[in-house]
Order: sequence, then C-alpha cells, then structure tokens
Amino acid sequence: MKIALLGNGAIAKLVAQFCASRGKTLQVVAALGLPVDKISGGGYPIVYSLGELLAFAPDVVVECAGHSAVAAYAAPILDAGVNLIIVSTGSLADAALWDMVKAAAERSTARVKLVAGALPGVDALSAAKLAGLTKVTLRSAKPPQAWKGTPAEKTFDLDKIAAPTVIFSGNARQAALTFPKNANVAATAALAGLGFEATTVVLVADPGVTKNVHQLEVEGAFGALTLEIKANPSPDNPKTSHIAALSIMRLLENEAAAVVI
Ligand SMILES: NC(=O)c1ccc[n+]([C@@H]2O[C@H](COP(=O)([O-])OP(=O)(O)OC[C@H]3O[C@@H](n4cnc5c(N)ncnc54)[C@H](O)[C@@H]3O)[C@@H](O)[C@H]2O)c1
Repeated sequence: MKIALLGNGAIAKLVAQFCASRGKTLQVVAALGLPVDKISGGGYPIVYSLGELLAFAPDVVVECAGHSAVAAYAAPILDAGVNLIIVSTGSLADAALWDMVKAAAERSTARVKLVAGALPGVDALSAAKLAGLTKVTLRSAKPPQAWKGTPAEKTFDLDKIAAPTVIFSGNARQAALTFPKNANVAATAALAGLGFEATTVVLVADPGVTKNVHQLEVEGAFGALTLEIKANPSPDNPKTSHIAALSIMRLLENEAAAVVI
C-alpha cells in the first residue's frame, strides 16, 4: 500500500518509522510539509504542494499536520479519489469544514477515516451509539503549565494552581472552538458518539498529574462505560500523546491485513 503523509512532524516520523518496518506492505512514498520541513523521517521526499504529493499516486493520505491542513487539503484529496485518514479531528468542530469534508467523501469513490487518536474506547462508544446513548462526558486533565497559551491563562493564574481546577465545562463544540490546540480528543468523542452539542467536556488543570489524562464516561441502552487513559507524550512532541501515532499505525496495519481487529 502506498502511503503519503500530510505533515513531517512527531506523528509523521513515528508513522514513517513503523511503515519502514513493514516493507512494501506499508510504503511511505512522500510527505507534504511547510517550507520549514526540510528533512524527511525516512528515505522519502518532502514536497510542498498537493499536486506533487498526489503525483506519487498514493492509495491513502494520512493527515498528521494540523487543522489548517485539513481545511486546505481534505476535500481536494477526496475529490482526487484518494482515501484520507484524519488525526486532527478537532478541525471538524468547524461545522462548515465538516460539511465540506463529508460532502467530498460522499461524492468521491474514496473514503475518509477519522482515527481514534488519544481517545480511548472509540470502538465501544460508536458501537454503543447503535442502541442509543444518553450521556457522553469527557474529562481531560493536564498539568497547569500545559494550559499556557490557551484562554485559561486569562482567567486563572496557572502558576498558582495548587488543586485540580476546572478551567472549562461545556459542550464539545465550545470546547473545541475555545481550546483548538486541545480539541482533537473532544471532537473525536463527539463525532463517534452524541455529536458536538450533546457531548459534555470538562477541562481540568491538575497539579497532581504529569501526563494528559482523559476520562470518558458513556451511558446508554448498552449499559455504562468508564475509561481512563494516562497518555505518555510523543518522543518528539510533548504536546502530542504517543498513542495518537500508534492509533494511526493500527489503522494502517488493519488496512493491509487479512484479519482486522
Ligand atoms: N486525534 C488526536 O488524539 C491527536 C493527538 C495528537 C495530535 N493530533 C493532531 O496531530 C497533528 C500533528 O501532530 P504532531 O505532534 O505530529 O505535530 P508536529 O507539530 O510535530 O508536526 C506537524 C507537521 O505538520 C506540518 N504542517 C503544519 N501545517 C501544515 C500545512 N498546512 N500543510 C502541510 N504541513 C503542515 C508542520 O510543518 C510539521 O511538519 C496535531 O496538529 C494535532 O492536530 C491529534
């Protein structure tokens, strides 16, 4: 399978290393980056336009570049008949962008897959949805310093937080649009479950945690589900959970596998 990457950062490099271990089964042919992206994470070239990327005739493009890349490239990739995997799901809290991506996928022979990323239990959440959900709540806790550069800085003195402090409580749409750099997990929960308006998100600055901790609580006709992940950071990007890249690897492995789990 020929794979093209959107982005040349922490996730792209881990995915490329994994693919290299799978030989021709998962072959990265090129990555599309920004001018700052000069050296690729493997023996493949970096290109700077979508036309150049698609010229490598990939079977699938893996987005691991951020929200601006989804906005710029998702629809054109699908319109070119090429499958797309999106990890920056937070971008899809923008209803106009989500409508555009869905419409492009519906008119294309290709498909768009939203990867689970750092959200645990997407399989169970989306299966449970089939019997009807009554409640989906995501609680994401990070060390206070991790909320620097977000709107939380205006309301809270992050350096002085000494106990777990709720910095945001609202629905997934508000969470994703207010905290775009922390939007992916909330958006994935919304997209897999009850949608952006009916999914509750609580964001917490917690001096007692050293990692990103996501707790998912789901209730519905299926019963109840509680899951927690304490996610280790990616080796090259402390803001990105390592599991995000692992989740892409699993999806690619399944794309190429005879037995899928
Ligand atoms: N779903 C999840 O749970 C989850 C978890 C972590 C990260 N993510 C998403 O994955 C993305 C990538 O994470 P990362 O740690 O590899 O980030 P990174 O900053 O290490 O790398 C991003 C790469 O994309 C490139 N890039 C940025 N904008 C681009 C554009 N418009 N066109 C082409 N290239 C562009 C950058 O130059 C860089 O090479 C994040 O932006 C985030 O949205 C999702």
